[in-house]
Amino acid sequence: STLPTSKQFAQKDGFRFFMEKEIYEQSDVVSDCMLGRLKDEEILFDEIDKSLIDGINEIKICACGTSYHAGLTSSYLFERLAKVKCNVEIASEFRYKEPLLTKDTLFIVISQSGETADTLEALKMAKNAGLKSLVICNVDNSSMTRTANNTILTRAGIEKGVASTKAFSTQTVVLWMLALYFAKAKNVISKEKLQSEIHALREVPKSLKVLDKVHEKARRLSKRYLHGHGFFFIGRDVFFPLALEGALKLKEISYLHAEGYPAGEMKHGPIALADPELFTIALMPENLLYDKIKSNVEELSARDSTICAISPLDFELADDFIKTCKTDHYMLEFFEMLVVLQLLSMEISIRLGNDVDMPRNLAKSVTVE
Ligand code: G6P
Repeated sequence: STLPTSKQFAQKDGFRFFMEKEIYEQSDVVSDCMLGRLKDEEILFDEIDKSLIDGINEIKICACGTSYHAGLTSSYLFERLAKVKCNVEIASEFRYKEPLLTKDTLFIVISQSGETADTLEALKMAKNAGLKSLVICNVDNSSMTRTANNTILTRAGIEKGVASTKAFSTQTVVLWMLALYFAKAKNVISKEKLQSEIHALREVPKSLKVLDKVHEKARRLSKRYLHGHGFFFIGRDVFFPLALEGALKLKEISYLHAEGYPAGEMKHGPIALADPELFTIALMPENLLYDKIKSNVEELSARDSTICAISPLDFELADDFIKTCKTDHYMLEFFEMLVVLQLLSMEISIRLGNDVDMPRNLAKSVTVE
């Protein structure tokens, strides 16, 4: 075997942690990820079979951890944009449920490493059942890319932080592009709509840029939030999987108890926990269901939960507020809020003195069951 060249050793480049560097890199790696794939009026994925979507009536996605959250996010996009049924499962659940697999299903697995044991096994099961498969992966020539019929690489570069950041943003961009690629192939999207989506995609690198004032705000909030005993991250639609991801980041590196929840579901149980000790991180995008999430947050505020609102719109009932930029597409708000959530958990973790890049009990890649 040959030794890796120096280029393959990631450096911190003056950042305190790899995670911080990787958060800051997101804008650039997402540009790389879109390079050559975005045209004015179409999306190109030369690496996949032209006939991949032929005869497909359903998409099934399997993944673990953060990659699972990218999958969940994309299920909204596949149904909304490509008008194709999409369901998403945690790979370890899928494996043992005796899943019903039909050949009109495209099987997609998502993995940063391409080595996660449960995801790899799920992929093999689908292949053995004769399904078409597609791997969305960050590591070329990994076990998964060698197993699948088709691969799309996310081009995020080496990710060292155990808590995944840039892998997630590139996965989400690939999946959004893929939803549009299928929409066009199936002829279910108007030319104008496709153009406006492509226009929004081009703005993603800007939305992922870390603004000093946002980082500073996250740093300041971390002073009080590190004392929190329970956190609810809430959102609706794609902001629900984003809430799951925000909560996962906090658990992984800050060791604080956090849950992601669909905002509209809080009244069916969790709102019973509301009191000033409960921190609610509310994802309140302007361009998607704003009035709905607002009324969900008002209910929590009336029951004295401490509210941290993340929104481009001022929200008077918030105890704390992180303002995001005005945009005209909810997915751009998604990426802006993603950065806020990543920074918040990282700053809390740093203040707690934790090893941000190598949190206790966790591994970057879980190759055993
Ligand atoms: C581990 C990592 C997570 C990651 C998950 C899935 O738990 O700590 O950050 O999301 O595995 O990994 P994969 O490489 O399949 O995306």
